[in-house]
Amino acid sequence: MSRVTKAIVPAAGLGTRLYPATKSQPKELLPLGTTPVIQMVAEELARSDVTDVLIVTGQRKQAIEEHFDPRNGLQPEDVAPSRSGLFRTEPIKFHYVVQSKPRGLGDAVLHGASFAGDDDVIVALGDCAIVGGQEPRLLDRMIQAHFEHNAAATIAVQRVSPEKTSNYGIVELAEELGAAAQLADVVEKPGPELAPSNLAICARYILSPLIFTYLGQGKPGFGGEIQLTDAIRAMIGDGHRAYAVPLNEDERRLDVGEFDSYGRGFVRALLEDSEYGPGFGSYLRALVAHMEDPSAPDPDGQ
Ligand code: UTP
Repeated sequence: MSRVTKAIVPAAGLGTRLYPATKSQPKELLPLGTTPVIQMVAEELARSDVTDVLIVTGQRKQAIEEHFDPRNGLQPEDVAPSRSGLFRTEPIKFHYVVQSKPRGLGDAVLHGASFAGDDDVIVALGDCAIVGGQEPRLLDRMIQAHFEHNAAATIAVQRVSPEKTSNYGIVELAEELGAAAQLADVVEKPGPELAPSNLAICARYILSPLIFTYLGQGKPGFGGEIQLTDAIRAMIGDGHRAYAVPLNEDERRLDVGEFDSYGRGFVRALLEDSEYGPGFGSYLRALVAHMEDPSAPDPDGQ
């Protein structure tokens, strides 16, 4: 199988939906359970043999760089094996570029043009982790489909409830969805009446270098931002092939972008943690029982 060794991780958004938590810290460093989400993204990339990661940072770049600097903080021998995920990203070389103003995801990706050069790249959003599932994992299935179909873009998709299509980029398929399906179109945040499907773009892309030409020509779209979806749409319009690869039933996207999805992702990740999960699960059950029936013992009570 052909490999993709480079990834761009956009992490320059302002995270305004998470204020005040993100006033001075990047949302990408918020933990899901024990681990910052951007570290989970880096571990996912390392598992798919990515060797070079360009993190697009913004006004608060210092903390992300410090997080991935191996000289900073505890060393592997000081950390319990269950907490040593940071060092599993060791084969990766991290690079940084600053997006001075958050002009949109498309603009963030465009900052990776010279890093990508003539190579196909993964784009992995720094505020979303993909967890669960078996081999072959999502990125590996995407890489396989991308080269098998000689695609210009390959996009991960997940089903969302029809009333939520206006929160996502939504794809229109040109054929039935199997392990992959060719795309007829992509639309940024359509309302339910305009959505061509309920398959939402899911935080992972593989893109050929052609994308940078389209992004460079792009005009601000939805929300006044340079949208990656618009550039992919223009590529498809010009006859370039794009494919969707669905998340498997047992794969989950954990997204820190809003407080409700962050809360769900944090609770799920901590419940799945081998060290903290069992105790936290008992606590949660007792808390819910107490909230439903105040006469049941309060697990935080004296
Ligand atoms: P979002 O649109 O969810 O992030 O982008 P945001 O702009 O921070 O969100 P709000 O609306 O202000 O709360 C998804 C990913 O793309 C990055 C973000 O950091 C996030 O990881 N991004 C977004 C950029 O790097 N640059 C941008 O201009 C926009």
